Amino acid sequence: MWAARQWHRAIAGFALFSLGGSTIRGTHAAVPDYVVKYADAGLNALAPLVWTHSQDPYQPADIAAQVAHSIPQVKYKPVAGAPSPLTLNNLDQLNALGGKDIFLTSSEGIRALPDWFKGVRPNSDGKTEGAISSTIVVTEREDGVVDAFYFYFNASNPEKWHREHNMIRFKNGQPQAIWYSQHAGGRAFAWDAVNKRGLRPVAFSANGSHALYTTEGTHDHTIPGVSLPIGLLTDKCNEGFLWDPTLSTYSFRYDRASQEFSAYDADTPVNWLNFDGQWGDEQLPDDAEGQVILFGQRKYASGPNGPKFKELDRKNVCPSKIGPCFIRRSLNLQEEEEQELKRVVELL
Ligand SMILES: *[C@@H]1O[C@H](CO)[C@@H](O)[C@H](O)[C@H]1NC(C)=O
Ligand SMILES: *[C@@H]1O[C@H](CO)[C@@H](O)[C@H](O)[C@H]1NC(C)=O
Repeated sequence: MWAARQWHRAIAGFALFSLGGSTIRGTHAAVPDYVVKYADAGLNALAPLVWTHSQDPYQPADIAAQVAHSIPQVKYKPVAGAPSPLTLNNLDQLNALGGKDIFLTSSEGIRALPDWFKGVRPNSDGKTEGAISSTIVVTEREDGVVDAFYFYFNASNPEKWHREHNMIRFKNGQPQAIWYSQHAGGRAFAWDAVNKRGLRPVAFSANGSHALYTTEGTHDHTIPGVSLPIGLLTDKCNEGFLWDPTLSTYSFRYDRASQEFSAYDADTPVNWLNFDGQWGDEQLPDDAEGQVILFGQRKYASGPNGPKFKELDRKNVCPSKIGPCFIRRSLNLQEEEEQELKRVVELL
């Protein structure tokens, strides 16, 4: 009971950022240290820190700028009667004009690679100055479970909302497990298994790719979720620029029952989260100039859809498409490989 109440305060503290723990502090003596540590810290203090690759030309980008630079299109044709200018406050109006068939197409064309695709390199504080580049969504579940999703925004065409996100599952205020999305899949780890900087888990965003890893170095992703000893398709990670997504973020609460988002402050635009369409250009046909297909993965794939499609109401820390949710207890993936392969074989 106590833990649940403290945890609700921690969420309130997260909402208002400044609430801190003064009301909590008086009760410290009665509670175990670890509870206090996390309850006091609040969610932001446990948010992931993300290393972007030193040579990645596409750094985290401003979500609103992406919308401002987009022309909504259906089947490569502009949508008639679309709001102009298009903003985060009116983006959901497109739902009545084509919804999921709409692609937020860059004004410059998919292969033009305009400068704003490049995003903003995190500064020495980890902030993407002038760019709100992440979205945090918190949702409460039954039995004291709280899920915090951290979505990382990338303007590079066509991967606007690339699928990169972490999700941390808390139970009675204690972080239990963390999900790292990788291409079409990802991996879940026990909280204690992943590396931290202070209290915060560390993620590595792969160079030229859409995957988050727990460690730097080269990661094979030929079969999503399976670490093959010989890399056919590999992702490369290093400690390039340390990005603190909480310093440049929009934060929301998601109500599972009503499927509604609400912002934690009055200045945060909310409507865009209801947009049903795709954040990017429509996939180039397979025979188009510049299109490359490797093991079924396309260089110019269709832009993905937004956070509300990332299964915010999850039974497990893994999305359900993964099948059985295997929570790794160590970072030694080879040790766990047998189980992973078994899981994949079961899915085939
Ligand atoms: C990182 O990606 C950039 C741009 O695609 C490329 O030029 C660079 O060689 C890559 N670095 C590594 C280590 O793969
Ligand atoms: C952003 O997406 C592009 C294109 O898919 C990719 O090359 C790049 O590595 C991504 N950057 C980050 C920081 O995720």
